[in-house]
Amino acid sequence: MAKERTLAIIKPDAVGRGLAGEILSQIHKGGFEIIAVETRRLSKAEAEGFYAVHRERPFFADLATFMSSGKVVILALEAENAIARWRELMGATDPAKAAPGTLRQQFGTSIQNNCTHGSDAPETAAFELGYFFSGRQLL
Ligand code: CMP
Repeated sequence: MAKERTLAIIKPDAVGRGLAGEILSQIHKGGFEIIAVETRRLSKAEAEGFYAVHRERPFFADLATFMSSGKVVILALEAENAIARWRELMGATDPAKAAPGTLRQQFGTSIQNNCTHGSDAPETAAFELGYFFSGRQLL
C-alpha cells in the first residue's frame, strides 16, 4: 500500500500533564514519520473551525473550550495505512472502552479529555492537514 498521511493532535490534557514526549516516543515506535509539527495554543475560533462537522453535537461548545484551553502538539504523520494505524494506536474515543496499551487507554481520562485526535478518513485527513499546515510544510 502507498504511504498515506494523517493529522494527529496531542490534546491540551496530555500536553498539560507533560505527556507529549511519551506520546511522541510511541508515535516513533509505531513506525510513523513526522512530516510537520507545530506546538501552540489554538484560539476558540480555530478549534470550532477544526471540529465544524460536530457543530450540532451537544458536546461541541465544551470541546472547543477544552481544545483551546492550553497548548497542543499538531502533527502531520506519514506511514503506510497511516489513518487506520494512527486510529489503532490511539484506541477508541472513550478511554474507558479503549484497548489495553492504546494511547487513550494509557493517558485519556474522559471521552472529551482523550489525549489525542486523529483523522477518520482520507477526505477528513486532507481537510485537517490543510487546516493547520501549508503546502510548503507538507513537501
Ligand atoms: P476526537 O477524536 O478529537 O473527535 C471529536 C472529539 O469530541 C472527541 O475526540 C472527544 O474529545 C470529544 N467528545 C466529547 N464528547 C464526545 C462524545 N460523546 N462522543 C464523541 N466525541 C466526544
